Amino acid sequence: MLKIAITKGRIEKKFCELLKVAGYDVDPILNKDRELQIKTKDDIEVIFAKSNDVLTFLEHGIVDIGIVGKDTLIESNFLDYYELLDLETGKCKFCLAAYPSYRTKTFNRRKRIATKYPKVARQFFEGKQENVEIIKLEGSVELGPVVGMTDAIVDIVETGSTLKANGLEIVEEICDISTRLIVNRVSIKFKNKEIYKMVDDLDRAIKSIKE
Ligand code: PRP
Repeated sequence: MLKIAITKGRIEKKFCELLKVAGYDVDPILNKDRELQIKTKDDIEVIFAKSNDVLTFLEHGIVDIGIVGKDTLIESNFLDYYELLDLETGKCKFCLAAYPSYRTKTFNRRKRIATKYPKVARQFFEGKQENVEIIKLEGSVELGPVVGMTDAIVDIVETGSTLKANGLEIVEEICDISTRLIVNRVSIKFKNKEIYKMVDDLDRAIKSIKE
């Protein structure tokens, strides 16, 4: 039996659509109420978890496969996995964003940057050899500049609507993000056939959607 941890919410919804196109039984997933662990007719056991917890379950060998955003992978220090597939869903970008005045303003102090992704933000500014103060927020990162706490944000931009609604704009794009299928390194040895069958099925589904 293959065990999969799926990031709850938007990623889960898109992954189910893809699984369905790939010919898998998704009814138990779509019809679940508040259950967190379910089995499908394809002999797959699925758990639904927060993004960082998907990595924790994979790391501890509880699941063979994780479905998680590249943003979570980049920010995490966990490296002991194989990334086998870009699902090409959940496409968005890491960006530096601020009010338009940020571009021309002269800073006589360290810039303050709000982010849910301190590692990404730190690496981005280190690459520019800029020493900034990073302030971690858990969500609604746009509030940083809106309430006057920070000069800019490093955050995920999908449609750009949240930035626009708050008068903010992209200053610089950092990198592209999408949902990835990752695999436990031990599972690949013992469940090689099952894992690659699913990867191939999903790969075909991704290609058929694009056609
Ligand atoms: C993400 C991100 C932005 C928003 C961007 O937040 O942090 O706030 O989505 O999307 P958009 O470009 O389509 O407007 P999310 O909705 O995941 O919630 P959060 O702010 O609580 O992290």
